[in-house]
Amino acid sequence: MKESPYEYQVVRGFTFSALFWLIVGLIVGLWIAFEMFYPALNLTPWLSFGRLRVVHTNGLGLGFGLAGIFACSYYILQKLTRTPLVFPRLARAHLYLFNAIIVMAALTLMAGMNTTKEYAELEWPLDIAVVVMWVMFAVNVFATLIKRREKQLYVSLWYIIAMTVTIAVLYIVNNLEVPVNLFKSYSLYAGVNDANVEWWYGHNIVGFIFTIPILAMFYYFLPVSTGLPLFSHRLSIISFWSLIFAYLWTGAHHLMLSPVPEWIQTVAIAFSIFLIAPSWGSVVNGYYTLQGNWEQIRSNYLVKFFILGITFYGLQTFQGPTQGLRTLNSFFHFTDWVVGHVHMGTMGWVTLTISASFYYMIPKISNNQLHSIRIANVHFWLILVGQLIWTVTMWIGGIQQGAMWKATEPDGSLTYNFLDALASLYPYYKLRFAGGVVYFVGIVLFVWNIIMTIRTAKNQPLNANKEV
Ligand code: HEM
Ligand code: HEM
Repeated sequence: MKESPYEYQVVRGFTFSALFWLIVGLIVGLWIAFEMFYPALNLTPWLSFGRLRVVHTNGLGLGFGLAGIFACSYYILQKLTRTPLVFPRLARAHLYLFNAIIVMAALTLMAGMNTTKEYAELEWPLDIAVVVMWVMFAVNVFATLIKRREKQLYVSLWYIIAMTVTIAVLYIVNNLEVPVNLFKSYSLYAGVNDANVEWWYGHNIVGFIFTIPILAMFYYFLPVSTGLPLFSHRLSIISFWSLIFAYLWTGAHHLMLSPVPEWIQTVAIAFSIFLIAPSWGSVVNGYYTLQGNWEQIRSNYLVKFFILGITFYGLQTFQGPTQGLRTLNSFFHFTDWVVGHVHMGTMGWVTLTISASFYYMIPKISNNQLHSIRIANVHFWLILVGQLIWTVTMWIGGIQQGAMWKATEPDGSLTYNFLDALASLYPYYKLRFAGGVVYFVGIVLFVWNIIMTIRTAKNQPLNANKEV
C-alpha cells in the first residue's frame, strides 16, 4: 500500500455537493409536481410553480449534474493522465465558489430574478461568477493534460475537453446582456435572433451537461468496474467526433414551425436524424464490451446501472430526432410528451450513470468497501420503477393532451378549451407524483449508502488517503 499522490479531497467535496443538491432539487421537483394537481400549494410567490420550476431545473442540472460531473472529471482526469491535479488549491476554491453560486442561484430565482431564458435564467452578476468558476476548472483540466504522464488520450478525456471548451463558448455567447441594474439585464440579441441563439445554447447546454460528460463517465467506469476492455477504441473516437460535429447544428429543432427561417429548421432536423448514428455508436460499444460476459449483469451490481443507463440514452436519442420532425413536433410541442422525454434522460441515463460512477469511485478513494450492495440493488430497482412510472405516464398524458388541443368541431371551433385538457390530466399528474416518490426513496438510499461508505472509512485502520 502506498500514499496516493492524487487530489481526492475535492472529488469527495463535489460528491457531497452533488448529493446535497440532488436531494434539494428533488424535493422541489416533488413540490411542483404536486402543485400541478393541487394548485393551492402555490402558497406565496416564492413557492409558486413559475419560480420553483427554475429552482428545480437549475438545482438538478447545475447543482447535482455539474457537481457530479466535476467530481468524476477530477477523478478520471488524474487517473487517465496518471498525473495529480496541477493546482489542487485552485480546485478547492472552485468547489467553494461552485456551492456559493448554486446557493445564490436558488435564492435569486426564488425571489423572482430571472432573465426568462430557459437554462440561462441567472442574472448577470451570477453569470460572471459562473464564467470565473468555469475558468478555474478549465485551468486545472488543461494544465493537468499538458503535464500528463500518459501520452495517449483515452476517449473519456476527449469528452471532458469537449465539455470544457464548448460550455465556455455557449455560456458566454448566449449570456451577452446589457445590465440595467444589479438585478436586471436585457439580452444583447432581439426577436428571432435571440430565440435562435437561446436554443443553440439551450439544446447544447443540455447536451454538454447531460450527454457529453456522462459519456466520459460511461466509457471510463464501465471497463474499470467490469475489468473488460472497451470493445472498440476506434468506434469510440469516430462516435466522439461525429457527435461533437453534429450536435451544434440541431438547436433549431426546439423552434419548429416558428418564425425562424425554414432552412435553419430543416438543417436542424437533418442533423438531429444524423445524431442517431454516433449516439448508437456509444450504445453498441457498451453492449459489445460485455460480449461473452453478460453474466456480470447478475454478479456485478454496477453493470445493470451502466447497461440500463446507456439503454435509456439509446432510446432517448431515438425519440429525440423523431419528435423533432415537423409533423410530429406540431403535435408534441408544449405537451407533457417532451417532459417525459426529458426525464427518461435525467432520471434514467444521467442518474443511473452518475450513481454507478459514485459507487465505484467513492469506495476507491475512501479505501473502503461499499457500505451495502443490497441497498445499492434496492436503490437501482426503486429509481428504475419510479422513472418508468414517471415517464410512461407523461408520454400517455402528452398524447391525450396533444389530441385534446387539436380536436375540432365540424364548424372549426375547438372541442375542448385549455382548462378541459388540463383538468383531464390530473390523474396522470397524481401518478407522476407517485413515481417521483418511489424514485426519491431510491435516491435517499443511494445518498445514505455513499455517506455511510465515507463515514465508516474513517473507522478503518487504513488511512483514507492511501491507495491499495
Ligand atoms: C439525438 C439526440 C436528441 C435529439 C435529436 C433530441 C431532440 C429533442 C427535441 C426535438 C426536443 C424539443 C421538443 C419540443 O419542445 O418540441 C427536445 C427536448 C429536450 N431534450 Fe432532447 N433530444 C435528444 C437527446 C436528449 C438527451 C440525451 C437529453 C438528456 C437528458 C435530452 C434532453 C432534453 C431536454 C432537457 C429537452 C427540453 C428542452 C426544453 O426545455 O424545452 N435530449 N429534445
Ligand atoms: C422525483 C423526481 C422528479 C420530479 C417529481 C420532477 C418534476 C418535474 C416537474 C413537475 C417539472 C415541470 C414540468 C412542466 O413544466 O410541466 C420538471 C421539469 C424538469 N425537470 Fe424534473 N423532476 C424530477 C427529477 C428530475 C431530475 C433527476 C432532473 C435532472 C437531473 C430533472 C430535470 C428537469 C428539467 C431539465 C426540467 C425542464 C423540462 C422541460 O422544460 O421540458 N428532473 N420536473
